[in-house]
Amino acid sequence: MKKFKELRIREVPSSVLGAARKETFAALEADLGRVESLGMFSFSVFAEYFEMVLLALRRQHPSEAPVTDEKAFLTQEARHSAACHVVNETALGSGAYRHDPCLGRIPNLVDTSLLRMDAAAEELAFVAAAIEASFGVQSVLVMENAGDPRWMKHPGTYYIFLYHMAEEAEHSQVSWAMYEQNFGAIDTGGPRFLAVLDAYGRSAARLMVRLGEQLGCPITLADALDTWMHVTNVGRTHALNRDFDRFTTARQDCVRQWDDTWEPMYRRACES
Ligand SMILES: [Fe+2]
Ligand SMILES: [Fe+2]
Repeated sequence: MKKFKELRIREVPSSVLGAARKETFAALEADLGRVESLGMFSFSVFAEYFEMVLLALRRQHPSEAPVTDEKAFLTQEARHSAACHVVNETALGSGAYRHDPCLGRIPNLVDTSLLRMDAAAEELAFVAAAIEASFGVQSVLVMENAGDPRWMKHPGTYYIFLYHMAEEAEHSQVSWAMYEQNFGAIDTGGPRFLAVLDAYGRSAARLMVRLGEQLGCPITLADALDTWMHVTNVGRTHALNRDFDRFTTARQDCVRQWDDTWEPMYRRACES
């Protein structure tokens, strides 16, 4: 994975946060259908937790050779967690959280076994790099649909979703570089990397099912896996071809589209 620009810390405007707080999951489900709305929401809930893992990981194991963008990366991630929290808490309520001694506030429904904080630093850094790489793939796929008029009807929620995706596209090489500087090259076609991509997709699908139950709109695990396997399979294809670098141009386009086209459009929709 390659860097293509300096990381930019984007503010989420207060009008966006205000709009997101007024939007309901029931309305989202009515417009997008149960499976698609839960797919987006499961990413938001997983990400709120995962950003806390990334911050804790750097606190527990400060890198001996920090990568250049480390500070900006961590600032972006802390803000993602806070922005996702607005969307997630609005739908789930404050009772849907617990305090984890290592991570701080995390959603109850996430499965923490994918990233056990008592695992070795190398293992945690590897899993984090692979999941961030998967986020980079997902960002490109998601931004292709940013003009969907159904998304525009929920501008606060989708502003936060797309802003986050743009920054993930922008920084998904940082965890990768951090791993490679400290522990050596990642073999994307090897079984270890592919296993993490697969485990992340399955974990997100199970979270999607649990969120459906919690919100009173149950779905089957098969439908949830179908949603996540699409992202996993695109990532897997590029991993096996060892051409993740091809995503550099696509990631760059994704960020440019957000900044030039979609951000002003979604912001205006939140203000109106
Ligand atoms: Fe993030
Ligand atoms: Fe990230």
